[in-house]
Amino acid sequence: MNPSTATEPALRPYFDPFDPALHTDPYSRYAAAREAAALCAGPYGLTVVTRHADVSQALRDNRLGHGPLTAPNRLFSFLGMDPPHHEPLRRLAARFFGPAAVAAQTLRITAAVDDLLDHALRKQQVDLLTDFAYPLSLRVVCGLFALPEEDQPWIREQTPPIARLLDPPDALTDHDVAAAHSAAGGFVAYLHRKINERRRHLGPDALSALITEADQGAGFSRRDLLPMCALLLMAGYETTANVIANGALALLSHPDQLATVRNRVSGGQLDSAAMNELLRYDSSIQITFRTVQRPVVIAGTPLRQGDPVALLIGSANHDPRVFVRPDRLDVDRAHNPHLSFGAGIHYCLGAPLARLEASLALGRLLSRTRRIEPSPGAIRHKNTTATVRGVESLPVVLTPA
Ligand code: HEM
Repeated sequence: MNPSTATEPALRPYFDPFDPALHTDPYSRYAAAREAAALCAGPYGLTVVTRHADVSQALRDNRLGHGPLTAPNRLFSFLGMDPPHHEPLRRLAARFFGPAAVAAQTLRITAAVDDLLDHALRKQQVDLLTDFAYPLSLRVVCGLFALPEEDQPWIREQTPPIARLLDPPDALTDHDVAAAHSAAGGFVAYLHRKINERRRHLGPDALSALITEADQGAGFSRRDLLPMCALLLMAGYETTANVIANGALALLSHPDQLATVRNRVSGGQLDSAAMNELLRYDSSIQITFRTVQRPVVIAGTPLRQGDPVALLIGSANHDPRVFVRPDRLDVDRAHNPHLSFGAGIHYCLGAPLARLEASLALGRLLSRTRRIEPSPGAIRHKNTTATVRGVESLPVVLTPA
């Protein structure tokens, strides 16, 4: 091969990960792109990676990263950092999300699920997203930080505009940027206040532990504290609420699979094969972005330093090269290496907690109901970011068991 052409990108089919039509029907569009090419050209110079093997490899390759810290990715702490800065911060946060810490949450999460289900079963006509999934995931994350219940609705409102910053800057309108900065400013001020209050009354919660760590100043500075809190508070609740609602919707749309799962719910929890399949089938994170930090070859194509890359997690999860009949929901699927929690150094730190929360929520929902009837009307998907997939609402009628 002539070396001068080796770095020239081949002419690629076009795929726009920000196309609003993706919110209604992502999977057939991913399939067309994936079968056309392993790499597509996207807007803003993006290289869009469509197939499982390449997305999986790219997630694990540290030549793809985030680059120098900019104001937006500073707010997401180590999620937006490359080695060597990433690892010590992740290690510090990991103490709240390891197996023992998560197992210790089981009783508290079960109590929260049952309390919300008590209310829901009394009303019978409920919205599984706004009456169940959101309040549950907010309670869990705010419980971790010992933040008051009355702050939860406000915290929920701040996150969607801030989450827009996860999309590449070129994809944001001036209005998006202004809304994100205004929400981020309010959120930072809120966290400042909470940190100062908590410093005077430390307790057995994650916020107190992080403040103590920052005040001791051994490797974790006061400057790192606020972004760390923002990341841990925001990363967990929208995503987990969407896993619960997307999972419920998938089961409601597949009554045979719903019946199978219902028959084998034990201890009020979904089994892990079913949980993995719901995570794969309609992932609450569809895309993640990287920038090439050092030259790298993906799908046989060299990419240059500075190239922006979109990794289509949702497409990888439906790649027939890896998953048998990928567009079918199969709660008995044996081979299920989905990428819904990412992979490599940024593999989701909250995955064990999110799994526990979602399997308790869906497991107890099934074991405490005889029927779940979707209310008539079209289901609409949120269209705020390219990254997040979730419904706007999920109204149902519950018949108690
Ligand atoms: C309790 C709930 C959760 C918490 C506390 C949490 C927290 C985090 C944190 C701290 C990271 C950054 C890890 C790093 O950079 O080393 C992360 C990454 C990630 N999380 Fe979660 N998460 C939660 C739930 C979820 C859920 C439900 C999903 C989707 C199903 C998800 C998908 C991801 C993905 C895909 C990444 C990697 C992003 C990338 O590589 O760019 N997370 N999470």
